[in-house]
Amino acid sequence: MGEVDPAFIQEPEHRPRISYIEGEGIPVIDLSPLHSPNDVSAFEGLVKEIGNACKDWGFFQVINHGVPLEKRQKIEKTSKRFFAQSLEEKRKVKKTEKLVLGYYDSEYTKNIRDWKEVFDFIIEEPTLFPNSHESANDKELAGWTNLWPEHPSEFREACQEYIQEMEKLAFKLMELVALSLGLPADRFHGFFKDQISYVRLNYYPICPFPHLALGLGRHKDSGAVTILGEDGVPGLEVKRRKNGEWVRVKHIPDAYIINIGDNIKVWSNDEYESVEHRVMVNSEKERYSYPFFLLPALSTVVEPLEELTNEQNPAKYRAYNWGEFISNRNQSNYQKQKVENLQISDFKISE
Ligand code: OGA
Ligand code: NI
Repeated sequence: MGEVDPAFIQEPEHRPRISYIEGEGIPVIDLSPLHSPNDVSAFEGLVKEIGNACKDWGFFQVINHGVPLEKRQKIEKTSKRFFAQSLEEKRKVKKTEKLVLGYYDSEYTKNIRDWKEVFDFIIEEPTLFPNSHESANDKELAGWTNLWPEHPSEFREACQEYIQEMEKLAFKLMELVALSLGLPADRFHGFFKDQISYVRLNYYPICPFPHLALGLGRHKDSGAVTILGEDGVPGLEVKRRKNGEWVRVKHIPDAYIINIGDNIKVWSNDEYESVEHRVMVNSEKERYSYPFFLLPALSTVVEPLEELTNEQNPAKYRAYNWGEFISNRNQSNYQKQKVENLQISDFKISE
């Protein structure tokens, strides 16, 4: 590629630095107490650790999480095989405006094109989904159906097995988050009946101009919680809450990187943080990752939980409709828009 396509070029202040700081500070949390619930003090210690990590970082890694390594290896392998195919083959399962799942190779984050290819699949099917921002209110809904490629032959099975494991872990994490906020363990469960949670396979190809582009531009995840698996090639950077510095996340084999999304930030009335992050690319190595996004049902109205607000600590957000929010986001991911996409800060109540 000779000429650099200007669609990929980040504004100077958002360009990655080639040297970086490694994030030693990001907490690593051992989830073993989940598997031996009789040890009450270990369990309480775990709940506390989760709470602190959600406050201080909005990001943490987990070990002894109970997801079989073999399922992770299987999805990583099949993802590599899928993306190694020709564009023509991959585009057979290409997403469109009407069919929002499958393969895509030109996504935008904050109006700059990302240096990546993706494949999305959802856990619950079929899910009804508003077709566009405008139609979210008049209930014109499009069906969300998983598109499965013919090759690699084991792709579908690997994906379906993996997403089941992710759902189990995500619910355990939501229970820990609820307990850490002083709520009943199952406080959040009701939001996920008819969930739109999905896994995204990310492929960041080798990039000849890594100092100008990003694999994925700076963003916050808008859902409840994200569970990220990655292949060990460095790239993910997190904006440290304390000083706004970009910190690279250290790879720990078989650990998962967890981050709190905007939903939890709002439910907790800003007690917990949803933190900006981005992905760098490099000119020597390609990178693969496979986040699971735990997302509530489209009909959910997201607002600070009643139990966590009172006169001294009034709600910091107006209620917003999740279905409308996500369809606005979805549109801005596919094409360059004239305006910034919708953010939870648009619902912030000024103090
Ligand atoms: C995402 C994301 C990080 C990564 O897809 O939202 O933040 O390492 N991915 O791919
Ligand atoms: Ni993200």
